[in-house]
Amino acid sequence: MPRRRSHDKLARIGLAQGDHADEPRDPRADEYPMPFVPHGWYAVLRSDELRTGKVVSLHYFGRALIAFRGPDGQAAVRDAHCPHYGAHLGVGGKVVDGAVECPFHGWRFGTDGRCTHAPFAARPPKVAIGGFPVREHSGLVFVHTGPAEPSWEVPEVPEATSPDYASPIDDTCHARIHIQEMRENIVDESHFTFIHGQSEPPALELEPDGPFAEVRSRFRRRVLAWDLDNTFDVFMYGPGVMVVRVHGALLSLTAIALTTPVDDRTSEMRMLYYIRKPSRLPFLTPLLKLVFRREALAEVREEVRIWDHKIHQARPILLPHEKGIKALRRWYAQFHPSDDPATPGPTRASDWAAQPSTPPPPRRPVSPAVPQ
Ligand code: FES
Ligand SMILES: [Fe+2]
Repeated sequence: MPRRRSHDKLARIGLAQGDHADEPRDPRADEYPMPFVPHGWYAVLRSDELRTGKVVSLHYFGRALIAFRGPDGQAAVRDAHCPHYGAHLGVGGKVVDGAVECPFHGWRFGTDGRCTHAPFAARPPKVAIGGFPVREHSGLVFVHTGPAEPSWEVPEVPEATSPDYASPIDDTCHARIHIQEMRENIVDESHFTFIHGQSEPPALELEPDGPFAEVRSRFRRRVLAWDLDNTFDVFMYGPGVMVVRVHGALLSLTAIALTTPVDDRTSEMRMLYYIRKPSRLPFLTPLLKLVFRREALAEVREEVRIWDHKIHQARPILLPHEKGIKALRRWYAQFHPSDDPATPGPTRASDWAAQPSTPPPPRRPVSPAVPQ
């Protein structure tokens, strides 16, 4: 069974997604012209969720996956199904000497995916389970999707391991939307007024730099009885990782926003909010976290509710101040797999250690344009 990482604890404080999931859906709300797995780095686990000696089941990119640590503690993320007879290595599998052992007939696979042991065989069969390039830093385990070895890296996020910041508020939600539209949210100027309570849309300028992009801006919002000015600096690292640094009189925080395709209809957004401890009044940190949870997490749920039912507008009708979405789409297009047959999905045995074992997923169909 794929492990569900959705730990939406908001039901307890009355902020869960509500009952809109049962509302009728227009099929166009699941149709996108872009492939659902853009190429790049995605964080699929927090480091402390992957304990040595344990096999963790995951489900991302439309496939069952497992994660485990090798003898040197190095993290591996690989396909979940055993090439021998198809058992799910995360369902009853265990780690033995840093290799994952299949629960059905005892074959073992190392962190590079290759079979290292098969009971009753003179030598291990030359087979392997597919997988991904993996990196681990900033308290996160990242995997890379794409037909080639990664050509860029996600920079470290110092706040994630700094004693000046509280342990993160960790909030995960799922929505029926493409991850690109989750990212478009940060440059959608006008929604800041309606969803996030800001007095006017912020002025935004996206500055692309290869697979990275930055946005710097300011906003004013009312918290309790005060109008507070804040700055926010956004750092995008490819299609799945974004760091937002907010500085204001009341609160300074760094948010790591992780957007990851679950399957061709569902995307995950995991937000890790690191609140800076007030240096003179550190005992106020729990109170700040409580207020922030009530304010910000409810706003995210409002967005999820909208995302679940919106359709993709290939040519949205944008007002003069709404430049962000267009700029974001231009930048984001570099991560969409090309149809060029010169860059096929991985199929060769030599790709075993670095690549998924299945070809790239098909695109979702696109319905004909509908007059608006
Ligand atoms: S199915 Fe895994 S060892 Fe047989
Ligand atoms: Fe938003």
